[in-house]
Amino acid sequence: MAGVISSKSEIKRIPLYIEGLDENMQGGVPEGHITLISGSAGTMKSSITFNVLYNESLRGKICVYLSLEQSYNSIIKQMINMNFDMSKVNLVIVKDLADLRNAIAKVKTPGAGALVMVDIGCIRKEIKDVKTADNKSWLNVIKNVVKKIKEEANCHLFCLDSLSALYVLSRFENPRIELFYLFEFLRDLEITSFLISESQPQSGRYSEFEIEEFLCDGIVYLRLTPFRRNVVREISVVKMRATACNNDIFSLEYKHDRFQALYGGQNPLL
Ligand SMILES: Nc1ncnc2c1ncn2[C@@H]1O[C@H](COP(=O)(O)OP(=O)(O)O)[C@@H](O)[C@H]1O
Ligand SMILES: [Mg+2]
Repeated sequence: MAGVISSKSEIKRIPLYIEGLDENMQGGVPEGHITLISGSAGTMKSSITFNVLYNESLRGKICVYLSLEQSYNSIIKQMINMNFDMSKVNLVIVKDLADLRNAIAKVKTPGAGALVMVDIGCIRKEIKDVKTADNKSWLNVIKNVVKKIKEEANCHLFCLDSLSALYVLSRFENPRIELFYLFEFLRDLEITSFLISESQPQSGRYSEFEIEEFLCDGIVYLRLTPFRRNVVREISVVKMRATACNNDIFSLEYKHDRFQALYGGQNPLL
């Protein structure tokens, strides 16, 4: 039967590229999983996910980063300031849906990876122009872009930044059903997906409707914790199906051009 494995060595994993955390989760997220990257503003959700897609594209994977929040320029500015070498990756920018075909042609080189950035700022204008701005059009645009890249160029990894922005643009009348079908859609395509979710600190919730938490395969939670007059970045894996993982809270640092998870389960060294 397709998709059924007979031994755990068959589970392929995508590292999160966070030193100290990947080792604590059998090497990473199982391929094909849908993971929520949840946290409040400034917790580095976008940077961590971009880092995964950047590194995987260098290893020959086709990755799609679809940002509904920040423009392509703003994301790249952030990543360059973090010393990412953008000249190393095959970076393809989609600014116009009519251009999708050309963009796909650029990522089709066999064996070569690519990082496709879908600049939704431009597409947002396009949608407005064609006056299809009913509440389903956004979800459909996203699904069509991902499906097309998957079918024509075999997209491996997908990041939606963010689910919260999607809810603003696309009113969900029946979130339970609409989200169920969105998750089913991604699962059917067999794409490893990272869905960024803006969550309020101390709310005890990782997503807007809470259903996402049950539907997803994994949750990585990021937070900023004040301690006296210091603020510590923290990361924990709340849930990861098919993975024996350490659920301790780790300090998260970005040092020497890489993410590191430190002092899991211990008091932070301040
Ligand atoms: N070297 C760095 N360059 C740029 N931003 C950094 C760096 N180290 C830490 N940051 C922090 O990253 C944060 C933004 O990260 P981002 O991934 O956009 O967060 P989020 O998506 O969770 O809102 C900023 O608040 C900034 O302080
Ligand atoms: Mg962000």
